[in-house]
Amino acid sequence: MSKKELYSLGEMPPLGEVPPKMHAFTVRQDRFGEPSKSWQREVINTPELGAKDVLVYVMATGINYNNVWAGLGYPIDVIADRQKKGEPEDFHAGGSDASGIVWAVGSEVNDVKIGEEVVVHSGWWEPEDPWVLSGKDPMLAPSVRIWGYQTNYGSYCQFARAQSHQIKKKPKHLSWEEAGCYMLCASTAYRQLMGWSPNIVEPGDAVLVWGAAGGLGAMALQIVSALGGKPIAVISSEDKRQFCLDKGAVGVINRNDFTHWGPMPNTTSPDYKAWMSGVRAFGKAIWEALGERKNPKIVFEHPGEATLPTSGFVCDTGGMIVICAGTTGYNITLDLRYHWMMQKRLQGSHLANDEQSEAVNELVLAGKVDPCLSETYSFDEIGHAHQLMHENKHPYGNMACLVNATEKGQGKS
Ligand SMILES: NC(=O)c1ccc[n+]([C@@H]2O[C@H](COP(=O)([O-])OP(=O)(O)OC[C@H]3O[C@@H](n4cnc5c(N)ncnc54)[C@H](OP(=O)(O)O)[C@@H]3O)[C@@H](O)[C@H]2O)c1
Repeated sequence: MSKKELYSLGEMPPLGEVPPKMHAFTVRQDRFGEPSKSWQREVINTPELGAKDVLVYVMATGINYNNVWAGLGYPIDVIADRQKKGEPEDFHAGGSDASGIVWAVGSEVNDVKIGEEVVVHSGWWEPEDPWVLSGKDPMLAPSVRIWGYQTNYGSYCQFARAQSHQIKKKPKHLSWEEAGCYMLCASTAYRQLMGWSPNIVEPGDAVLVWGAAGGLGAMALQIVSALGGKPIAVISSEDKRQFCLDKGAVGVINRNDFTHWGPMPNTTSPDYKAWMSGVRAFGKAIWEALGERKNPKIVFEHPGEATLPTSGFVCDTGGMIVICAGTTGYNITLDLRYHWMMQKRLQGSHLANDEQSEAVNELVLAGKVDPCLSETYSFDEIGHAHQLMHENKHPYGNMACLVNATEKGQGKS
């Protein structure tokens, strides 16, 4: 039994003592909308653990785009979605990236110990899912969910509930906020770049990276570079150029030098020719950035509607456009003639499995991938950080908010 009903943030209970109540940032259905309003601080019950669950005393949390969507209640209402699956809570206590200390473990957990300093990867699936038990990729399992988006009690909670397989080693050289900000984007980027054999990054390969100074992009630049590839960065403002070069880009393209964005015009319309000349000029800019006339073997996509027709054209013969989001819209257009004749692949990709999360964490542990922490905010600024992201006004890299950590820079050893 806990001696206290509720601890303040940063007030550490004796190791292993779990209070019945905790602080959390939540969304409720009656305030869906702008993230600065939809995300509010509350006191809620500390969750119960299942046999294979782990409770993490969260020191810092990363901020991800998925909880911008959760706050908006669009494209899915995550609360209604979970209630359909039988979960009673009428709130979403989200957060998909955490660093912290293991505080309690379920009865069947023997691979994680209380007191360990950890980070959490956000691939969640039913432990008894027959697909998972058969040894197939859990990210394709019927029960897969994104932790802290499609599950409750994520990293915007004083105590987060995760499954033991999600727990990874915290890099000792990183502060709590650096450790808490990278895993979701890094693991997603790793699966995009290394999960779809034979279209994986090999030494010398050119890889085009959209939104290269963003959370996903900054991770992609460094992963491609660590694997010996040649990342070409796309940005929208010159102040991001040096950042991309520092993270391994061999060249940088400013997308504002072009105007052909958005859906591809009908191939028989007069607009098609002008559109195609924009696309060809962009392809030439790739060669100039790369320093050779070579097309990208992999196009790392997530903007979607605005950029995908261009991605489809510039991708090399036999290459792959790999996409994990449609931030600018879902209604994509593609010139199929180039797609089939040059035998390109359009591959969807979503988060990462345990092995891919482990592999990218090894790159972080080895100092080959930096979390690219941009800015650290307080717990009470969780809504504000999502609002910045929603408006594309957030600083480049990955943002974090302190949860139980009381000051920036703590946690290095
Ligand atoms: N499926 C998954 O597992 C998964 C995992 C992580 C993230 N995501 C999704 O991936 C998307 C990006 O996430 P993130 O964390 O990288 O977000 P982010 O930090 O906001 O970066 C996205 C970048 O996209 C670029 N962008 C914005 N509008 C654009 C446009 N019209 N055309 C081209 N580029 C544009 C921006 O860079 P410039 O303005 O400099 O070009 C921005 O920095 C989000 O929708 C997120 O939900 C999906």
